[in-house]
Amino acid sequence: MGTSSNFYVVFLTIVVLATTTFATYFPRPTHQNQFVLKQSKKPQKPYKSHYFPQQLDHFTFTPESSKIFYQKYLVNDTYWEKKAPIFVYTGNEGSIEWFADNTGLMFDIAPKFKALLVFIEHRYYGESLPFGKNSYKSAKSLGYLNSQQALADFAVLIRSLKQNLSSEESPVVVFGGSYGGNGVMTRSLSVSPAVLAAWFRMKYPHITIGALASSAPILQFDEITPWSAFYDAVSQDFKEASLNCYEVIKGSWVELEAMKSQKGGLAELSRIFRSCKVLQSADSARDWLWTAFVYTPMVNYPTEANFMMPLPAYPVEEMCKIIDDFPPGATKLVRAFAAASLYYNYTGTEKCFDIENGTDDHGSDDGWGWQACTELIMPMTCSNESMFTPSTFDYKGVTEYCVKKYGVMPRPHWITTEFGGERIYHVLKRSGSNIIFSNGMQDPWSRGSVLKNISSSIVALVTEKGAHHLDFRSATKDDPKWLIEQRRQEVEIIQGWIDEYNADLRCKGGKTE
Ligand SMILES: *[C@@H]1O[C@H](CO)[C@@H](O)[C@H](O)[C@H]1NC(C)=O
Ligand SMILES: *[C@@H]1O[C@H](CO)[C@@H](O)[C@H](O)[C@H]1NC(C)=O
Ligand SMILES: *[C@@H]1O[C@H](CO)[C@@H](O)[C@H](O)[C@H]1NC(C)=O
Ligand SMILES: *[C@@H]1O[C@H](CO)[C@@H](O)[C@H](O)[C@H]1NC(C)=O
Ligand SMILES: *[C@@H]1O[C@H](CO)[C@@H](O)[C@H](O)[C@H]1NC(C)=O
Ligand SMILES: *[C@@H]1O[C@H](CO)[C@@H](O)[C@H](O)[C@H]1NC(C)=O
Repeated sequence: MGTSSNFYVVFLTIVVLATTTFATYFPRPTHQNQFVLKQSKKPQKPYKSHYFPQQLDHFTFTPESSKIFYQKYLVNDTYWEKKAPIFVYTGNEGSIEWFADNTGLMFDIAPKFKALLVFIEHRYYGESLPFGKNSYKSAKSLGYLNSQQALADFAVLIRSLKQNLSSEESPVVVFGGSYGGNGVMTRSLSVSPAVLAAWFRMKYPHITIGALASSAPILQFDEITPWSAFYDAVSQDFKEASLNCYEVIKGSWVELEAMKSQKGGLAELSRIFRSCKVLQSADSARDWLWTAFVYTPMVNYPTEANFMMPLPAYPVEEMCKIIDDFPPGATKLVRAFAAASLYYNYTGTEKCFDIENGTDDHGSDDGWGWQACTELIMPMTCSNESMFTPSTFDYKGVTEYCVKKYGVMPRPHWITTEFGGERIYHVLKRSGSNIIFSNGMQDPWSRGSVLKNISSSIVALVTEKGAHHLDFRSATKDDPKWLIEQRRQEVEIIQGWIDEYNADLRCKGGKTE
């Protein structure tokens, strides 16, 4: 394999994961207007949409920086009482509805807290496009897309909202899964909302009393977490399900490569993969397999779910059952294909597979690609022990790609400069408080998150069998005990923050006001 194709794999991985994390798999902005019209006729959505005139640039005082764009946010006030808490979801790389619809936890716990629910869309995603259709056109228009501007948006919007509600004393708790929490969602397996929630608490402690960051890989930057950790974790999920399964998948890539040089190889590959059209390149088959094996561990939920794709409970185990139960004689590639097709065809409705289109474009043209080329550099490699073809992180290749595509150079050390991360256990215990980092060890993103308690108020809630922001999903009657317990602890801790805040507020004795 040439360096360019190696680079492609690694870069695609970054973009996809980022997306996954940052939730790039969402509906595209082009459908926005239709969506709004439709939504107004669909009363079953449990929130109302609003649009806030937001400042384009919070940090530059030039006349053009005061340009306004409309930032979308969703509100549910059914349970709210004045002065009660405001729960804010810090939106990530995708349409805010997608996140709201996958964050049942906030709706489940709102009645107990009489909380107002607010979901704020991240600039440059969904409908919140500062330059409309031209938002992704060039580095000039994309330049206002970064995490610091996004956090400032949240702060400005929250203050305005509280003022309009005449409820400035209400405690605000932020929630994020993936980037939003610096979390990962698929197709929008977003890593970003969770990351953002944690960063928001660190940077804006005067706006929020605490953050619940579910699957927030805030340590996936620079050299804090071993670069191979993500794919090693993916591989471990399969290995734990069955060693044979891991070995079959690991061996399938070589068989696939070998077919490239074989006469009639592409036709044979098209047949094996039940492709709707004859494949133009073996690489698309490889990406298709890769997508299934990387995303499934993230959503290895204990109950049937439809986050990225409709899948059964514990889909990694189901994939491995398919591989282990296969009649003898079949090649590794055939077995790996059969396992991967669970990801694409659990509903049983696919007549053939749209392999060349099937892995989707992961928003390489949208905001995530820009963020992955500028500030959110998450280096990833595949070690010899992983079930993927070993690869290195080709920083030079990434840089060349970014310069060519956007005309900008990545700044791989900016995130750790702006938000920290190195020696976090020493730093945050002195400088921070009131953050829950929740993680499920099935989720490969957990390896770049906080997995140990930092202080009495910065706690790690870790479950062995949990997956990507599992705790944010609506409670179901089939939830295992450890998940119920994780959510119970979260509620208890948040209640503690609010009680403390209210007690401080009542105790005004020593204050000048
Ligand atoms: C708020 O959420 C609850 C629970 O999903 C729902 O029953 C209610 O209709 C929602 N309220 C609004 C105003 O959308
Ligand atoms: C608060 O009210 C002002 C004035 O009506 C409005 O421009 C602004 O959008 C409101 N803020 C929010 C968060 O909706
Ligand atoms: C999808 O699943 C159904 C039901 O198991 C099966 O009949 C069909 O052949 C599958 N499609 C593909 C492309 O494998
Ligand atoms: C991919 O899908 C889109 C629409 O879903 C279609 O317009 C396009 O032709 C497809 N491309 C290929 C190569 O099949
Ligand atoms: C991985 O394998 C390659 C090639 O076999 C070898 O050069 C390299 O040292 C190995 N790396 C590790 C960490 O074992
Ligand atoms: C962190 O502390 C909480 C109690 O506050 C405990 O329940 C939890 O298990 C601890 N987390 C870890 C990873 O040890």
